[in-house]
Amino acid sequence: MQVVSISSLKGGVGKTSVTLGLASAALAAGIPTLVVDLDPHADATTGLGVRPSRQSDIGQLLRNVRRADLAANVASSGWVAAAAARQELPLGRQVLDVAVGSAYTGIYDRPDLRRRDLGRLAKLLSKVEGYALVLIDCPPSLNGLTRMAWMASNRVLLVAEPSLFSVAGTERTMRALDLFREEFAPELATAGVVANRVRAGSSEHMYRMAEMRAMFGDLLLEPAIAEQANWQQIQGAAHAIHQWPGEAARQAAGVFDDLLKHFTDSGRRRHRRSPAPAAAGSTAGTGAAPANTSAAAPLAEPAAG
Ligand SMILES: Nc1ncnc2c1ncn2[C@@H]1O[C@H](COP(=O)(O)OP(=O)(O)OP(=O)(O)O)[C@@H](O)[C@H]1O
Ligand SMILES: [Mg+2]
Repeated sequence: MQVVSISSLKGGVGKTSVTLGLASAALAAGIPTLVVDLDPHADATTGLGVRPSRQSDIGQLLRNVRRADLAANVASSGWVAAAAARQELPLGRQVLDVAVGSAYTGIYDRPDLRRRDLGRLAKLLSKVEGYALVLIDCPPSLNGLTRMAWMASNRVLLVAEPSLFSVAGTERTMRALDLFREEFAPELATAGVVANRVRAGSSEHMYRMAEMRAMFGDLLLEPAIAEQANWQQIQGAAHAIHQWPGEAARQAAGVFDDLLKHFTDSGRRRHRRSPAPAAAGSTAGTGAAPANTSAAAPLAEPAAG
């Protein structure tokens, strides 16, 4: 079972969107998948078309981790019923479940979470079977919830926008991940960095993409995800990108199919450490410069905690 945390220190860069895109690709590919919505805002739960029901949310399960039965409390994504209704999925391969998010998880989003609390999600997941892939949508911080997610994961996928603050934030997250790995999880791999909302026509974006390539090397995953005009409409309808009509959605769905291969083709990408940080402050700038440089963004201190 591959367990992948989708993380970023910075908010609003597309963690939930990437989680949903990968979940959509996994559903289309018939890969039994569980999405754990660890963000107290529970956006992934909403986007996956889960209706409120009798199941306990992930916050309650984490609270009673010893007695909790995660398998009995997952909800099936509304995408499954929609796809089944249109006979898009082969029978028996329609598993896309959700560990439902809620504001209750917020009690764990503290910077000082104790070591034994960090293991709560790992313990819950150790009791579930039948999924080939678990995607954990994290909140935008490096507090307890994200660290709990990392503790339960094989790999961490970082999401970045091609902007100065996001790139610098990704570098800080990468360093925090290295520290976390040293202290808690030596086997935890960096799955990579995915660039989101990229506009090929923007010179600033192209500059930042080149910067990320220099900074993260082959940890910068291909393909990048383009800025998509109807993204909010698709999410607003709680729809899977693979089920949305039109050429733009089809292309975006193909991008997530390709990205998903990084997680399912486990033989190729083994344990990865972050590349050594490039020289700090070497070509920090406004983004107006040409892209052919091995420059790094301005680096701040490693993230606390
Ligand atoms: N590739 C894209 N094209 C267009 N809009 C996008 C794209 N990716 C994300 N968005 C939009 O950007 C907004 C933020 O995205 P999202 O909620 O996925 O980010 P997030 O990192 O999960 O945010 P948070 O940190 O608050 O959890 C949403 O309105 C989403 O629809
Ligand atoms: Mg989110």
